[in-house]
Amino acid sequence: MFVTVVLLLVALCAQGGNGEERETVQRSGHVSVVIVGGTGDLAKKYLWQGFFQLYINQVSSGNTFSFYAGGLSPADKATPIFFEILKTVSCTNNVSQERCALLKEQFLRLSQYRQLKSLEEYQDLAKHIEKQLQEEGMKEAGRLFYLSVPAFAYADIADKINNSCRPTAGAWLRVVLEKPFGHDLRSAQVLASQLGNSLKEEEMYRIDHYLGKQVVAQIFPFRIENKKFLDPIWNKHHIERVEIVLKETLDVKGRIAFYDQYGVIRDVIQNHLTEVMALLTMRLPKNLSSSEEVLQNKMQIFSSLLPLGKNQAVVGQYQAYKSEVQQELNKTNDHISLTPTFAAVLAHVDEAQYEGVPVLLISGKMLDERVGYARILFKNDIFCLENHNAVHCKPKQIVFYFGHGTLKYPAILVSKNLFKPVLMNSEWKEVTEHADVSVLGLPISDYYVQTPVEQREAYTELISHIFAGRRNSFISTENLLASWDIWTPLLTGLAGTYPRIYPGGTDNGDLLDVCLKGKDISYNSEVVIISSDQMGGTPANSFQVMQGKFRSSDMVSAWAEELVERLAADIQEAAEEAVHDSGVFHLALSGGSTPLALFHRLALHHFSFPWRNTHVWMVDERCVPLTEQESNFYTLQNHLLEHVRIPYYNIHPMPVQLNQRLCVEEDGGAQLYEKEISNLVNGSRFHFLLLGVGYDGHTASLFPDSKLDELGGSLVALTESPVKPHQRMSLTFSAINQAHRVALLVMGKGKHELITQLSRVKDNPNKWPVTGVKPAKGRLVWYIDYDALLG
Ligand SMILES: *[C@@H]1O[C@H](CO)[C@@H](O)[C@H](O)[C@H]1NC(C)=O
Ligand SMILES: *[C@@H]1O[C@H](CO)[C@@H](O)[C@H](O)[C@H]1NC(C)=O
Ligand SMILES: *[C@@H]1O[C@H](CO)[C@@H](O)[C@H](O)[C@H]1NC(C)=O
Ligand SMILES: *[C@@H]1O[C@H](CO)[C@@H](O)[C@H](O)[C@H]1NC(C)=O
Ligand SMILES: *[C@@H]1O[C@H](CO)[C@@H](O)[C@H](O)[C@H]1NC(C)=O
Repeated sequence: MFVTVVLLLVALCAQGGNGEERETVQRSGHVSVVIVGGTGDLAKKYLWQGFFQLYINQVSSGNTFSFYAGGLSPADKATPIFFEILKTVSCTNNVSQERCALLKEQFLRLSQYRQLKSLEEYQDLAKHIEKQLQEEGMKEAGRLFYLSVPAFAYADIADKINNSCRPTAGAWLRVVLEKPFGHDLRSAQVLASQLGNSLKEEEMYRIDHYLGKQVVAQIFPFRIENKKFLDPIWNKHHIERVEIVLKETLDVKGRIAFYDQYGVIRDVIQNHLTEVMALLTMRLPKNLSSSEEVLQNKMQIFSSLLPLGKNQAVVGQYQAYKSEVQQELNKTNDHISLTPTFAAVLAHVDEAQYEGVPVLLISGKMLDERVGYARILFKNDIFCLENHNAVHCKPKQIVFYFGHGTLKYPAILVSKNLFKPVLMNSEWKEVTEHADVSVLGLPISDYYVQTPVEQREAYTELISHIFAGRRNSFISTENLLASWDIWTPLLTGLAGTYPRIYPGGTDNGDLLDVCLKGKDISYNSEVVIISSDQMGGTPANSFQVMQGKFRSSDMVSAWAEELVERLAADIQEAAEEAVHDSGVFHLALSGGSTPLALFHRLALHHFSFPWRNTHVWMVDERCVPLTEQESNFYTLQNHLLEHVRIPYYNIHPMPVQLNQRLCVEEDGGAQLYEKEISNLVNGSRFHFLLLGVGYDGHTASLFPDSKLDELGGSLVALTESPVKPHQRMSLTFSAINQAHRVALLVMGKGKHELITQLSRVKDNPNKWPVTGVKPAKGRLVWYIDYDALLG
C-alpha cells in the first residue's frame, strides 16, 4: 500500500548555510530507499532512525517515499524482525506525540521487507517499484541503496543494482557504502575498480560517519567565519601542534574476526582522523559549493604530507586482546596477533604554512576514557613571573570537541586568551553556564564555548546529506585512494612490529604517553619495545629471538628453549672474553628452578666452555645444610658442577653452616664470604651474575620491605624470606651492581603478570627489589621467555 503525502514544496537542500552544492538541486517525485542488510545491527541502531527523520523532514516537500529492508532471509522470517526494529524509531522533541504516532504509522505502511539474494529478487524489486510508480501515476525522483553489508558483497550487489535496479530516465541513483573500503591501497583500488564497473562516481556515497558529526561538519564554517582571527595565527609561527584524538574505553570482544584483520590504524585513523586532519589543514576553497575545489584542496594536503615510516608511529595492544583472539579465532594459546589496538602517529604537512608543525593522530581501545577531539595548541611565548593563573599565561587553544569525555556534549571551544569566535548560525548557540569541568588543561570557564542547539546523530545528518546530494560529506574514490596511499607504506612498515602491551583502562597510567623528537615519535617510557629491525632479520611472525628494551635495559626474548640457548651462549662468550683478558672468569649463579634448563644446557652443550678458569659463586643460599635438596648449592652441584670439569677449589658455596649451626650472625658467615670475594674477585666485580625474580619482585634473597638500604656497603648479608626456610644469605645490591654483566632470567606464564607490572612500576627497591638491580658500570640484560612476556 502506498500513502502519498503531498503538501508544500520546499527547497530540497533544506538546511541552508555554507555547505550547499547547487549542482544537486533536484526535482521532487518518488524516492525508493533500500537498505540492503536492513535488519542488521547498524540498520537497527542508526539507519532506520535516520531514514525516519528524513521522512519526517520531507513529509511536506512534495516527495513521496517507499522503504525497503533487503536481506538474505526469506520474508516470512525477517518481516516480523524488521517491524520490531521500525517500532523503535522516534521523533525529535519538536514533533507532538499525536503527530509522531501518525508519522510512525505512515512510515510503517511505506516500509516492507524483501529477500534480496538472487538477481531475480533484485529484478522483482525493480518491477515492484515501477509498477507502483505507474499505479500511483508518480514521477520518479531517485533510488537510494544503502549497502549495510560486509564489504566483500559490495561488488556483487552493485552489479545487480546496475543490471536490474537503475531508475527511470532522469531520476538519480545513489548507492551508499560503509567502510571498510579495502585493506590497503591495492585492495582499495581493486574494490574501487569493481564498483566502477557498475556505478558512476557520482552515484557512490562512501560514508565516513565522522563527517556527519556536527562538530566535524562545522570545522570549515568555523574556519571561514573566523577567518579574520585565524588568518594571522593559522601557521607554523603560532601553532605549537595539532592533536586529533579518538579514545575509546571498549574492547573489541565479539568483533575479533573483523578487527584482527584491520587494527586501529585501518579502523579509524586512515579514515576518520585523516579526514579531520584534512579539514583542519587544507586550504579553504574559494567556492564552498564546488565539490571539485574542495576535493582538489584536500588532495593537495594529502600529497604534501611527509611520508609516514616506522619512526612516525608507535603501536600498542591491550593485554586481554591476545586471549580474545585465541578464543574467537579458535587458535592455540601460543598464537600471537600483532594487530594494534592503539596507535599514535606523527604526521607533518610539508607546506610553508605548516612546516615543522607536528600533527598527532591518536586512537585506541581500552583507554581511560571515551572522548574524541581535535585540538590546535598555539604557542604561548609569555612568561608569567607571579600569577600563573592569569588568563594570558594559560594554554592558548582551539578544541573541536566531538563529544563524550568530561564535557559530555559536542562543542567548539576557543580559549579566552585567543579571540571570541563568531557565532556561526542559528543552529549553534553559545554556552555560558558551565558545570565545573576542565577540558584539556583549562577550566571550561576559560573558554568561549559553542554547541549545537540540537544534537543530531551523525547517521541522521549524513542520510539527509545523501538525500540532498551533498557529496562533500562523503569520500570520493580519489580521496579514498589518496588516503590509502598515505597509510599503506606505514602499515607495511609496521607489519612485524611488536605492539606495546597495555593493561587497559586507568591502569595504563603513563604507559602510552608519547614523546616527539623532531619528525620521530616514540613512547615516553621505555618498556617492552620491540621493532622488527631489532629482531635480527628473522621473519616477523616466526619469533625466534627478539631483542628490545625492558625497563630501559636491553631485553632478549624467545621461546624458552631458544632463550636458554641464547643465555648459555652469552655466558660462554663472557667467559671467553674474561679468560682472554684476565685469565679467569667469575660467575655468580642464583638458585631456584628457573635456571635448571640453563644448567643443563651449559653442562650438555658447551664442551669448549673454559671451566678450568671459571670460578662459580653463589648469588644466594637458603640456610639449610648444603647437602639438603633445598640448598641452592645442592641443585647447582647436581645439575651443573658434577657434569663439568671444574676444579673443586674454584667452587664457592656460601658458608651458611658454621660451628654446627645455620646462619647465626655471630659466626660471621656473610663476612667470610665477602672476604673470599674480595680476595679472589678483582675489584669484587663478578664478570657475569645470573639473577631470577620471584612473584613478589624479590631477586637474589633480597625481599620486599626488608630494609635493604640498611645493609650499607657490605657485599653479603643475612636476610629474611617471607617463605620457608626464612633465613637466607645473599649478595647485596652493592655486590650485584658492581658486576660487569647481570642477566635477569624470567621464564614461564606464571611470571607474565609480574612482567607486566614490572614494565610499569618506577624504581622502588623496597617494594620491588628487582628494580634495585642497576649495574653501575656494567650491563643489565633481561632474558624473558615469551610465556612470561606475552602471557
Ligand atoms: C524539528 O526539528 C528538526 C530537526 O532539527 C527540523 O529539521 C525540523 O524542521 C523541525 N520541525 C519543525 C516543525 O520545527
Ligand atoms: C552497467 O551495466 C551496463 C550494462 O548492463 C554496462 O554497459 C555499464 O557499463 C555498467 N556500468 C555503469 C557504470 O553503468
Ligand atoms: C561555485 O560552484 C558551483 C558548483 O560548482 C557553481 O555552480 C557556482 O557557479 C560557483 N560559484 C562561483 C562564484 O564560482
Ligand atoms: C576449533 O578448533 C577445533 C580443533 O581444530 C575444532 O575441532 C573446532 O570445531 C573448532 N571450533 C570452531 C568454533 O571453529
Ligand atoms: C683488575 O681490575 C682493574 C680495573 O678494572 C684492571 O685495571 C686490572 O688489570 C685488573 N687486574 C687483573 C689481574 O685483571
